[in-house]
Amino acid sequence: MTASSDLPYPPFELANRVIELPSNDFAGYVHYEMAGRQTRDELLDLLPDGYTLEGRSLLDFGCGAGRTLRQFHEEASSARVVGCDIDRESIDWMQANLAPIEAVCSEVDPPLPFESGSFDFIWAISVFTHLTGNSAAWLMELHRLLKPGGLLMASYMGELNSEEVAGEPWDENRIGMNVLRHSQGWDVGGPMVLMSDWWVDEHWGRAFEIRKRHFAGGQTWALLEKKDVRLSADELMAAGDDPREIAALRHNVAQLQAEIDDLKSHQQGGSLARAGSALKRRASRLRRPD
Ligand SMILES: C[S@@+](CC[C@H](N)C(=O)[O-])C[C@H]1O[C@@H](n2cnc3c(N)ncnc32)[C@H](O)[C@@H]1O
Repeated sequence: MTASSDLPYPPFELANRVIELPSNDFAGYVHYEMAGRQTRDELLDLLPDGYTLEGRSLLDFGCGAGRTLRQFHEEASSARVVGCDIDRESIDWMQANLAPIEAVCSEVDPPLPFESGSFDFIWAISVFTHLTGNSAAWLMELHRLLKPGGLLMASYMGELNSEEVAGEPWDENRIGMNVLRHSQGWDVGGPMVLMSDWWVDEHWGRAFEIRKRHFAGGQTWALLEKKDVRLSADELMAAGDDPREIAALRHNVAQLQAEIDDLKSHQQGGSLARAGSALKRRASRLRRPD
């Protein structure tokens, strides 16, 4: 098997979809390579002491063109290494260039085409940070795919991201799972989801033991161990007794209302500007020739 730096790199356009590269040249790809190595190291750091990858089944959920997964190419001789993503072009590129790593083009909603209990370790880097209505269904799908006691690393945005994403200081009393820019396209980053640790404990904790957390790449990375439970997505999402559940929902309504107001004022600004230029054009046509 091959070290990542000896494997082909995806076209700039694909690489740049998952991480902003400084340039479309050697330096840009050094950045891509280093960032992938770092995510590999962060993942290994989170795993329990003595955890080995040999003979394991690994899944990178939302792998893009394999920024992180390519760093596990050497393990692919002694482990099953799989990635999935909804981005057809990225998956086509991986299938053509990163074998024996398996790459699967998945659907927007679950399920994935794997038997229950197929994987020992699944990770989802910067994916639950953008999933909205189907977030809980995906969490439970990954739960289904894990073997008993299997591990999931899912990253989420929280206190480090509040200013940038929501334009306000972090206050965990008003953040549960708060969705912003709900309909923003994937080409510009997709929807943005902020989560509090207490919310993750309450909801994800119904299906998983929260084993460990650390900050990496500007997000919280949580290592979760599958609990032996069967829950629907609705059961996972049902509000608990914590009064912050309601406070967070109320705040999310206010945040979305502010976004609507902002969009409206941009639209009005746009239509006022258009009306202004039309008037100018009409005025210039009405001007008498000297
Ligand atoms: C911010 S990128 C992160 C990519 C990769 N995990 C990394 O860290 O390089 C989010 C990825 O999630 C993928 N994605 C979004 N929704 C998905 C879904 N429902 N199932 C699988 N992948 C999805 C996107 O296509 C995109 O490649």
